[in-house]
Amino acid sequence: MDFNHIPVLLDQVIDGLNIKEDGIYVDGTLGGAGHSLEIVKRLKGGKLIGIDQDTNALKKAEEVLKDYKDKIILVHNNFENIDKVLDELNIDKVDGVLLDIGVSSHQLDEQERGFSFHQDADLDMRMNRDQDFSAWNVVNEYSQEELADIIWKYGEEKWAKRIAEFIVEERKEKTIDSTLELVEVLKKAIPAKVRRENHPGRKTFQAIRIEVNRELDVLTNVIPKIVAKLNKGGRLAIITFHSLEDRIVKESYRDLYKDCVCPPELPICMCDKKREIKIITRKPLVATEKELEENVRSRSAKLRVAEKK
Ligand SMILES: C[S@@+](CC[C@H](N)C(=O)[O-])C[C@H]1O[C@@H](n2cnc3c(N)ncnc32)[C@H](O)[C@@H]1O
Repeated sequence: MDFNHIPVLLDQVIDGLNIKEDGIYVDGTLGGAGHSLEIVKRLKGGKLIGIDQDTNALKKAEEVLKDYKDKIILVHNNFENIDKVLDELNIDKVDGVLLDIGVSSHQLDEQERGFSFHQDADLDMRMNRDQDFSAWNVVNEYSQEELADIIWKYGEEKWAKRIAEFIVEERKEKTIDSTLELVEVLKKAIPAKVRRENHPGRKTFQAIRIEVNRELDVLTNVIPKIVAKLNKGGRLAIITFHSLEDRIVKESYRDLYKDCVCPPELPICMCDKKREIKIITRKPLVATEKELEENVRSRSAKLRVAEKK
């Protein structure tokens, strides 16, 4: 299989991680190892731990990183478990962590995974294929209200209520089993004029994928865990592609940056809250004109970097 995923914001990520040649780094979203390759090239004595929940991605990454075997440890897991992964490797603290959230181009290209609304496949969309819960369960088992809610929230789809109504109507006849069957329902629910501007599957497929993989919860939960595992001066770099994800990163960094949060009328601090990070990027970094021309995927990418205090 051809794996042509171009790493986004590569220079900004490498700068942001401030790599030390003897440091320990974690790429929590290894994918095709585009970012990881540039990280390991800069290590002498240091190590890279690459995590991905997709075994196909791990296989590909192993190939890409084959010249650096002594510097890498690859792990099949969800980055949500980064603390446990590091504990099992007897690593107490690390010097940098990268998350490049979302699906890779190769996952979109693997027809049978069901991520693409252009190709027919079972409704799947699981990044981790050991998981039972898939897009089929969301589409066929969620209530109309639940469907409308996730399609509105995670897809920012204006037609969410109508789509949910049409899905539930279709289910009265038969289950919706494939990606193209779902696209047919979406075509019926979304007016032709709107469909001409954007593929009718774009937003709903994104919403279902986020739900299947619990992408927003995972991101929310992991940020404080990562910061707890960083050495002083260690960096956390997170690339997101969705406004909700970017908001999670921004707000998590803001919370971790806050010092005492006691009400001002208290004479002494009772909360013991201490500032845990410095925020390196006040505004998110985005792609340059040149990168935008070369890689459409960089269009919505935003990078935020923080440093452990
Ligand atoms: C956008 S790609 C990363 C691409 C990579 N940075 C590169 O340059 O090739 C995202 C990868 O992260 C993985 N992934 C997404 N969420 C994950 C999670 N919660 N835990 C582990 N892996 C995850 C996906 O399976 C996918 O392979």
